[in-house]
Amino acid sequence: MQACVRLVSLFIVVFEFVSILTLHLKPVQSLSPPVLCRSLCGGIPINYPFGVDDGCGAPHYRKMMNCSGDLFLLTPSGSYKVRSIDYDKQTMVIFDPAMSTCTTLQPHHDFIMSDIQSVVMPPSSDTVFALINCSIDSPVLNHYRSLCFNFSGHSCDELYSACTSFKIFQQFHSLTPPFSATPFPATPNPFINANATSPPPPSVSLSPPPPCCFTGYDTMKIMSMNILDCTHYTTVYNTDDLKGVGPLDWSYGMKLSYSVPNVGCDRCQRSGGTCGFDTETEGMLCLCSTSANATRDCGNAVGGNINAAANWGLKTTPLTLFQLLIWLFGALVNMKLWHVYVV
Ligand SMILES: *[C@@H]1O[C@H](CO)[C@@H](O)[C@H](O)[C@H]1NC(C)=O
Ligand SMILES: *[C@@H]1O[C@H](CO)[C@@H](O)[C@H](O)[C@H]1NC(C)=O
Ligand SMILES: *[C@@H]1O[C@H](CO)[C@@H](O)[C@H](O)[C@H]1NC(C)=O
Ligand SMILES: *[C@@H]1O[C@H](CO)[C@@H](O)[C@H](O)[C@H]1NC(C)=O
Ligand SMILES: *[C@@H]1O[C@H](CO)[C@@H](O)[C@H](O)[C@H]1NC(C)=O
Repeated sequence: MQACVRLVSLFIVVFEFVSILTLHLKPVQSLSPPVLCRSLCGGIPINYPFGVDDGCGAPHYRKMMNCSGDLFLLTPSGSYKVRSIDYDKQTMVIFDPAMSTCTTLQPHHDFIMSDIQSVVMPPSSDTVFALINCSIDSPVLNHYRSLCFNFSGHSCDELYSACTSFKIFQQFHSLTPPFSATPFPATPNPFINANATSPPPPSVSLSPPPPCCFTGYDTMKIMSMNILDCTHYTTVYNTDDLKGVGPLDWSYGMKLSYSVPNVGCDRCQRSGGTCGFDTETEGMLCLCSTSANATRDCGNAVGGNINAAANWGLKTTPLTLFQLLIWLFGALVNMKLWHVYVV
């Protein structure tokens, strides 16, 4: 009988211990800590000043990136696929899937950046906009003629002859050749005209292709495609390297030159943190872990130790310790009472 009661007491104590352990000492974090800021999207590293999660990166670049499988740059005129980011040279290459290139002709559309984008990440000076199929009334062919230029020995007329996609503009024009001043005789006499001038080759009857213009981003910034009065555009980057290279082999897309705000992000990164900002005040934050944000840095190894402890689930607060003692005391008193009663 006594042995049985003791056994029951022991069982109660063990049960209480197990309850305490499961209630108060369960892991407070999963073993892989939650990610504060994604650092990769579509194979492209996302570092300061960029961020795809709100509160990450620099506030100037807030809500400009979208990671939906691939990384996209969002501007008022659409989403542009990010091809690469060079963090040393501070450049980003983007590609507009809806833009015409040397091999694909796409419907008319515009390229527009927000005011802040055109300040913090304008297209680089070696990114050229080719305005194609312009009307003869286009400002860049008249008053703003000086905004057009040739680069690396290339003139924009080359695009009409070298690009399969832009040949159509030339063909359209050749369908309506201007009237010849000396039309052919209706019935040429082969004997009389044996040594007469032979009919001119077809190319002579082609009118010149429609006007075009190579220009820089500043022109696009001031004038929209409608004002420019050109139906299509394409963009080429790294134009300084294209001497002697035909339009089929140019790099189509845009290179943006971005600036990095100097707010002491280095210090935060050296301490193991990720640079971000307060989503309400947009003041800089150094994101250290889910449980600690600092303003400047993550303060050496202390943060790391806290993290390690949290991962092991040893979250001992004064309350749990106190409860543990009460339960233990209660259990011991229980045991003693049982003992006394039975004896
Ligand atoms: C991100 O891109 C996807 C697909 O293009 C779109 O559905 C989504 O709305 C975009 N998100 C933002 C915040 O623009
Ligand atoms: C070229 O521009 C003219 C107007 O200047 C327009 O009528 C024509 O449709 C354009 N060509 C193409 C292929 O879009
Ligand atoms: C560009 O080159 C073409 C062909 O060589 C020439 O006719 C044209 O005047 C040049 N344009 C400029 C702006 O230099
Ligand atoms: C045709 O022209 C050539 C030189 O242009 C001349 O030698 C030849 O005699 C001419 N033939 C006739 C039939 O006029
Ligand atoms: C740390 O900052 C991030 C970004 O602003 C925020 O989402 C998070 O709630 C903050 N954490 C703490 C513990 O303040």
